[in-house]
Amino acid sequence: NVGETNQTAYLRPLIIGHRGAAGEAPENTMASFLLAVEQGCDMIELDVHLTADGKLAVIHDETLDRTTDRKGIIRGKTYAEISEADAGSWFAERFRGERVPLLEEVYEAVPQHVQINVEVKNGYGGAIEPVMDAFLGDGDRLQRTVVSSFDHKLLARMNRSRTDLKIGLLYAGRLIDHAGYAGIMGCPVYSLHPHFHSIDAEDVARAKDAGIAIYPWTANHEADLQSLIDLGVAGIITDFPVRLKRMLEQS
Ligand code: G3P
Ligand code: CA
Repeated sequence: NVGETNQTAYLRPLIIGHRGAAGEAPENTMASFLLAVEQGCDMIELDVHLTADGKLAVIHDETLDRTTDRKGIIRGKTYAEISEADAGSWFAERFRGERVPLLEEVYEAVPQHVQINVEVKNGYGGAIEPVMDAFLGDGDRLQRTVVSSFDHKLLARMNRSRTDLKIGLLYAGRLIDHAGYAGIMGCPVYSLHPHFHSIDAEDVARAKDAGIAIYPWTANHEADLQSLIDLGVAGIITDFPVRLKRMLEQS
């Protein structure tokens, strides 16, 4: 049961860099991931979409429009076409030249001790093979990965095909019983990824009792970060990992 690996008491929440360090660098680019690593993240969160030629492109939206200088739907383009887009200059001129990375490249660039939370976006398309292929045959990669999605049926299918794949349930609602919901998935759940507004002390206690990590998203303001630290969550997803790290060091 992969959930059992996460039951141990922790001294502080994991610092989880949202789309890298998206508050300070263009989201989901190598510059953002390497900044998050430099700032001391324990884990980085990123988003993947499938390209027309079956590759996993690291980008949040279904299209290139918002975060690059090109337009068009990711699944309608080959990765060669997508890689021509500039994914940095929209954020700041000094990031010109950043590309939409492949998931494969992120695994190679991010040091082994940093975990990776791969969010498979809605509209991904259903075929689990490309995602599974990214992990199969590489025990180290599997070990450092949590796959999350708002599509819980997709996660259950992935875990059934590879039972040691750690899955994280991503959702926004204020559930009656967060850990109880994980219990009806029919497969082990490693982590809960609720919106940070939607949990309280009882939810955190129940998740701990169930041996499930709780990684709320996406808290950026100091007051919100402090509330989550005080709640004792297992990890905090933030656009400003450096801010969270400083707060943890000062507490
Ligand atoms: O994984 C947490 C968070 O990233 C989910 O929402 O839209 O930022 O991908 P979004
Ligand atoms: Ca995400």
